Amino acid sequence: MKKILVISSSPRSGGNSDVLCDQFIKGASENGHSVKKVFLQKEKLNYCLACYKCRETERCIHKDSMNDIIDMMVEADVIVLASPVYFYTIDGQMKVFIDRCLPKYLQMNNKEFYFIVTAADDSIPAMNRTIECLRGFLDCLENPIEKGIIYGVGAWEKDDVLDLPVFDLAYRMGKEV
Ligand SMILES: Cc1cc2nc3c(=O)[nH]c(=O)nc-3n(C[C@H](O)[C@H](O)[C@H](O)COP(=O)(O)O)c2cc1C
Repeated sequence: MKKILVISSSPRSGGNSDVLCDQFIKGASENGHSVKKVFLQKEKLNYCLACYKCRETERCIHKDSMNDIIDMMVEADVIVLASPVYFYTIDGQMKVFIDRCLPKYLQMNNKEFYFIVTAADDSIPAMNRTIECLRGFLDCLENPIEKGIIYGVGAWEKDDVLDLPVFDLAYRMGKEV
């Protein structure tokens, strides 16, 4: 059994990427894995201040939930990063979240990663910059294993993803963790 942590960064609760997160979670849970989801919009994370206090303490000085989320990441075997595509990159909440991993990113070793991206555009190559942004985070970790990418392309309005093949694909990818 693996510990799976899903980071859902869209501001739209129940939006396309959040729905794909839930599909992935459904598949993984059915196979007996333990899954937790963090919906970033609810957490109201502050920006990294680059104060570097975390170098001494391994804790962030901000009094929000990021220290707890970081501990969940260190504990997890599998991390799913889900973002809508905003101006052809990740959304601001995902970027703030990644920056806030500074206190313990060097302890996030040997994790398996899945990416979920959603966009109005139906071109997968047009998602490259967004995927590369997520890979930039992985480049800073020790031995990350990129296991899969779920492209929710051609999905603009809420619920658009329900009618796309990626809806089932996310479930199947969760099953195959
Ligand atoms: C601020 C903003 C910027 C966006 N930029 C793009 C974009 O560059 N390319 C694109 O294809 N869709 C863009 N979209 C559309 C979203 O990616 C699309 O609605 C997606 O389904 C949102 O996913 P969500 O429901 O998980 O939030 C943008 C939407 C917003 C609100």
